[in-house]
Amino acid sequence: MHGKAASLHDGPLRLFHLSDIHFGLEDRRALDWAKACIEREKPHAVAITGDLTMRARHPEFRAACAWITALDVPVTVEVGNHDIPYFNLYERFFAPYKRFKAIERLVESQLDLPNLAIVPLRTTTRAQYQRFPWSNGWVTDHALDQTLAAIDALPAGTRVLVAAHHPLTERRADGKLLTINGTRTMEVLAGRKVLGILSGHVHDPFDLTEQTPAGPLRMIGAGTLSLRIRSTPPSFNEIIIAGDSVQVKARNLEKVPTPAMQIDAVPENALPPRQPQEPVAPVATVPPVDPPVH
Ligand SMILES: [Fe+2]
Ligand SMILES: [Fe+2]
Repeated sequence: MHGKAASLHDGPLRLFHLSDIHFGLEDRRALDWAKACIEREKPHAVAITGDLTMRARHPEFRAACAWITALDVPVTVEVGNHDIPYFNLYERFFAPYKRFKAIERLVESQLDLPNLAIVPLRTTTRAQYQRFPWSNGWVTDHALDQTLAAIDALPAGTRVLVAAHHPLTERRADGKLLTINGTRTMEVLAGRKVLGILSGHVHDPFDLTEQTPAGPLRMIGAGTLSLRIRSTPPSFNEIIIAGDSVQVKARNLEKVPTPAMQIDAVPENALPPRQPQEPVAPVATVPPVDPPVH
């Protein structure tokens, strides 16, 4: 049933937005719980906004693909910076998605639900001449054109959510470059009146509205289901769409309320905050050190 539309109905749509599972460093307890929620509650769709693996290794992909293909709901999967082979440069440049073989029809696939489309936007690149390492986002002109073409091909009046791995924030408050071409992309998507953009990468949830010259843009981030937590326990987003209203709940096993889970500024990456001024959610479950990856 992957990739197919849910049955037609007029009621609210419910999505589960998962991100940064990072097989290789997955939180098994959180992952089992998320899977049980999906099986029991049967959301209309699941959007997974990238970083399926920790090091893009074959066993990590096998585990990720097995977990995802067992989900009996429509699924779309974005590609994260951790999912591009890092050590095998031939694969990185010439066959970066080869290891997604078992779920290739779900990768960057558009989901068409009743009067709602989830449209992918690629933010991960094989190389970035502007900087190294290449872990942050870059919306290339080609990637943006593809997303806009998909949106413009939808029947008039279709509601749109865009799914990407990196938040689109282009610069941190201190000017550091985050997602290249993010500002322009946000403005163009706001001009298309999308309901919001779903992303991952920073491992803390957020629900922010950015003002652009073309109008407001809702930016919805999901936390992680891995052990590599930043400042909040593992979580996923439940998103309810009714008409043009979008409600976001950051669900977690610890039952921490959503406002205490969400950060109010987009950090640079998923690393636990080390400086006092770095954005931290109120719950602030900051690990002393990152868990080792074996
Ligand atoms: Fe991640
Ligand atoms: Fe990432």
